[in-house]
Amino acid sequence: MDDLVAQLSAGLPAEAILTDPDVTASYAHDMASFCAAGTPAVVVLPRTVEQVQHVMRTATALRVPVVPQGARTGLSGAANASDGCVVLSLVRMDRILEVSPVDRIAVVEPGVVNAVLSRAVGEHGLYYPPDPSSWETCTIGGNIGTASGGLCCVKYGVTAEYVLGLDVVLADGRLLSTGRRTAKGVAGYDLTRLFVGSEGSLGVVVRAVLALRPRPPRQLVLAAEFASSTAACEAVCAIMEGGHTPALLELMDRTTVRAVNELARMGLPHTTEALLLCAFDTPDPAADLAAVGALCTAAGATQVVPADDAAESELLLQARRLSLTALEAVKGTTMIDDVCVPRSRLDEMIRGTAAIAEKYALTIGVVSHAGDGNTHPTVCFDAADPEESRRARESFDEIMALGLELGGTITGEHGVGVLKKDWLARELGPVGLELQRGVKAVFDPLGILNPGKLF
Ligand code: LAC
Ligand code: ZN
Repeated sequence: MDDLVAQLSAGLPAEAILTDPDVTASYAHDMASFCAAGTPAVVVLPRTVEQVQHVMRTATALRVPVVPQGARTGLSGAANASDGCVVLSLVRMDRILEVSPVDRIAVVEPGVVNAVLSRAVGEHGLYYPPDPSSWETCTIGGNIGTASGGLCCVKYGVTAEYVLGLDVVLADGRLLSTGRRTAKGVAGYDLTRLFVGSEGSLGVVVRAVLALRPRPPRQLVLAAEFASSTAACEAVCAIMEGGHTPALLELMDRTTVRAVNELARMGLPHTTEALLLCAFDTPDPAADLAAVGALCTAAGATQVVPADDAAESELLLQARRLSLTALEAVKGTTMIDDVCVPRSRLDEMIRGTAAIAEKYALTIGVVSHAGDGNTHPTVCFDAADPEESRRARESFDEIMALGLELGGTITGEHGVGVLKKDWLARELGPVGLELQRGVKAVFDPLGILNPGKLF
């Protein structure tokens, strides 16, 4: 430990090294606080690429594990510390290095907060679409590590589609540049894509070239109430089948709507079984919403209410973004699933989840990026009650089994971390798992980068 701190100090200023156990303990967890986490030996907060290289060279020399971290808003324990590790927090590397309206790119350091980037490129008439619910605090580096999604993915896609190139510090301290800053590029294997979603297990992202889009008009949102999730899912299918391009298509069940009202008095319709939010950022959003409203009515919506203006639309989205926080308040702890199924199977997924909740006598709120078939069944439980915690974990696993059965994936956007390790192996199968382990060994032969995550 003394050796580790002494060697780190040779390449980092004293203020970038934290060793007080009370302080370092606060870096032990991401937001999946119920997942196991170890005790870090030290937390480092570098400001430069050279400092990150020094950290990795030191870790390699001493064979010490390194856990890269952003803002710790992850939901799978991927940023949780392991015993004796160096927590490598990238939050101080937070500069936006370049915004180019002609090339439609931004070049950023990993600690830039998602919303800060969005606002900065907005001043140039540009748009960085991926928008996780935690966008006001989560960092771009964390978004890349977990391949995060968000509300607008149904139209604009996920983080992977916006990462063009990366600078990555490898386990041994070498600096790798991948990808491009051009509109096209197919030179060699797509290592850039490999790093997106690698959860800090292959290298440390220290710079990213991100694709931008022209900023669309402000979106207008419609809220439709349904007496059953089946009817709401029918509307989702009709909207997608009808060739519409909503900028957002979200579904909140009754448990979630009530939890949000309870937390924030948002005035959502709390008697509805399923609340569908649909938005358009097209040139004539009111016309698009009218067409979609008619499809909702045909599918059995009991109420269809378009927002009056952008401000009212934003309030509805704020209510939606509060879902997870609100569900946490129900019983103190949540285990949030992230199963993504073909959207044609969404109804089966939601009905199956309700059956699982009943079987285990648990409250499971379901909020979905319905347009993507991506559901977040959120098991609400009391972590102090061992028996309830056991049921929570069993129901959580059963939900993933159902997702795989329906042709889906165990995680659409939150990643594997420590929470879904066993399930990753099931989804990949033995051949896939062996090859992925092989890839890991190429980049990190000593196994010091975020050990114990993913596999
Ligand atoms: C959301 C996060 C939990 O959709 O992914 O709100
Ligand atoms: Zn989500």
